[in-house]
Amino acid sequence: MVVLGICGGHDANWCVFKDGKLIGAFEKERFSRIRHDDGYIMDLVDETLAKLGIKPEEVSLIATSEANFRGTDPGLEYIHKNLYDEPDQWTDMQVSFYGRTIPCFAVPHHLCHAAYSYYTSNKEESAVLTWDGGGDFYTTNAYTSTSISYWKNKKLVWFERVGNSDMGSLWHIYSKVIFQNPFAAGKLMGLAAMGNDSLIPEFKKYAMRPVRGCLSPTYSIKNCWPDEDMPLYGTANSWKHNDAANIAYAIQNLTIEAGVGLANKAFEITNSNNLCISGGCALNGYLNTEIIKQTNFKDVVVPPSVHDGGLSIGAVMFTINNILDLFWSIRFWEILL
Ligand SMILES: [Fe+2]
Repeated sequence: MVVLGICGGHDANWCVFKDGKLIGAFEKERFSRIRHDDGYIMDLVDETLAKLGIKPEEVSLIATSEANFRGTDPGLEYIHKNLYDEPDQWTDMQVSFYGRTIPCFAVPHHLCHAAYSYYTSNKEESAVLTWDGGGDFYTTNAYTSTSISYWKNKKLVWFERVGNSDMGSLWHIYSKVIFQNPFAAGKLMGLAAMGNDSLIPEFKKYAMRPVRGCLSPTYSIKNCWPDEDMPLYGTANSWKHNDAANIAYAIQNLTIEAGVGLANKAFEITNSNNLCISGGCALNGYLNTEIIKQTNFKDVVVPPSVHDGGLSIGAVMFTINNILDLFWSIRFWEILL
């Protein structure tokens, strides 16, 4: 049985499983040499299937993180599609893949993030937190940028969105202000090392809000997207600007405060010894370190490709284990090959 996982959008990625084993995982940026690349990918899917010795007609199932494909037509087209409204709903569709009709499951963005970190952890049970800058835009009723879930024996036990929490939006906006690139969060994180705490009170007042949902009461960074065009200190348009490093320091500080607070609440309600983390904000090494230091979790797992680049593997693992009850495992070394 050959399963193709596929995810468009930025960090476009795809993966191939054969008879329960991951035989290839790819991200478009590694081919185009354009960081976070998106756009049409079916020519690359074609090329990599051939390199793996798989013919397109051997693919019998597709899993995706989107109920709307991007960058896949021609090659992969809808026959029949269902959209989902909530971040814990998934849906089955029929697609045409190189002229053949085959089943396809669409799994929401944050479920894919969560599935990716849980299944690659090989933990029997675990709490899972996901956080990024907005996730997908297809869960029409519930904008989700932060989630908590609990997984046991290769199954999702429960999943909740965390309302009023969007740490990635602040990183996106100030990467754009300071580096003119919304995907420069890594540079902003580095710049934080050169700053001081002078702007923390102002940024805290601006961005920290009480979360809604089961991790309440605690605080997180609000959804800052509405302020994208006119942010605080919007004139700090270079990393050499006087305020730039202090802005970065403040954002890093708020992210740690929010993330550690949410992780402590997650421990309180799940009582699990294990925490898996996923989503673009899980690339924040400072935050991950503080979660290890400042929470009671015995093991904190952050897999490689924890950003959107791991979504296609998450989509396949969720589909195989939760929907089809096939219970495949995955090992780190299989991903890293
Ligand atoms: Fe994401």
